[in-house]
Amino acid sequence: MGYKDDIPKLAAEVAEQKKKRNAIILVHNYQRPEVQDLGDFVGDSLGLAQEAAKTDAELIVLCGVDFMAETAKLLNPEKVVLLPEDRALCPMAQMIAPDDVVELKAEHPGAVVVSYVNTPADVKAVTDVCCTSANAVKVVNSIPPEKPVIFTPDRHLGAYVQRETGRENMIIWNGLCPTHALMRAEDVLRAKEKYPDAEVVVHPEAPMEVIELADAVRSTSGMLRYCGETKASTFLIGTEIGMLYPLKKKCPDKEFVIVTGELVCPTMKMTTLRSLRNALRDMKYEITVPDDVASAARKSIERMLEIGRGRAG
Ligand code: 13P
Ligand code: SF4
Repeated sequence: MGYKDDIPKLAAEVAEQKKKRNAIILVHNYQRPEVQDLGDFVGDSLGLAQEAAKTDAELIVLCGVDFMAETAKLLNPEKVVLLPEDRALCPMAQMIAPDDVVELKAEHPGAVVVSYVNTPADVKAVTDVCCTSANAVKVVNSIPPEKPVIFTPDRHLGAYVQRETGRENMIIWNGLCPTHALMRAEDVLRAKEKYPDAEVVVHPEAPMEVIELADAVRSTSGMLRYCGETKASTFLIGTEIGMLYPLKKKCPDKEFVIVTGELVCPTMKMTTLRSLRNALRDMKYEITVPDDVASAARKSIERMLEIGRGRAG
């Protein structure tokens, strides 16, 4: 019997362990369908952080990647937060270190540091305010225009924010998402030839040549809202392929086509029902953040949640 055959049994075990532990299961939109189906909440990075901030559950299990579980832990220092796969790391989050930020600050005195939540806690600790793809424009717009902004680590999200805010004084780090960076304008143009009436909806981690061809640029949950509210019946989706599942679940009568089949984030796919069951059963893998790092990092997330009340995308 393979993994697929085991899904009903594993799902029952997860439900039983979850009850026993008084746990909440938070799941990112790119996770495997069977994992999404067991989530108490399924959403984007902002939604996951907001849910983590308000839960009463004693145990938080985060099905996603490292920085999402770390953010949940920062907002719940007294609770246990588990990441079911300890190898589920976001490669973009590894592209910047605290020393890089400290150096940038020294080079640009008076600048405000805005870091994407896709960063490790020690980078958040030297950051003034975090952002997600849903509120990055709003966060940057909240900073007085005369102040330079150091934006880390995603150069594509940074370029999109710069375009939307019209802000010239932005210093943008050179990181990227290896999955979203694969998209090319020609992929979108080819897909548009096949589906001329489709709307193009892309994630702001996409390169600018792709963003320029989009009808809408949204976070993953922003895509769900947009496609649900818009009249079009076919959408070309420019983000990780796992997004097709929640889109189809929300809008069963609409058609969703990924702009290129290569858009798979390998670490987002590591979590299975087996790892989720093991996490709840064996209480692994517990996320820990040293106290001094946590208290500084928490402030940058709390500032974001303050500004971000009412999302923008
Ligand atoms: P969202 O916050 O839009 O879900 O994006 C998270 C992410 O990692 C995208 O690659
Ligand atoms: Fe990180 Fe990209 Fe994967 Fe999102 S899709 S978790 S940004 S590597």
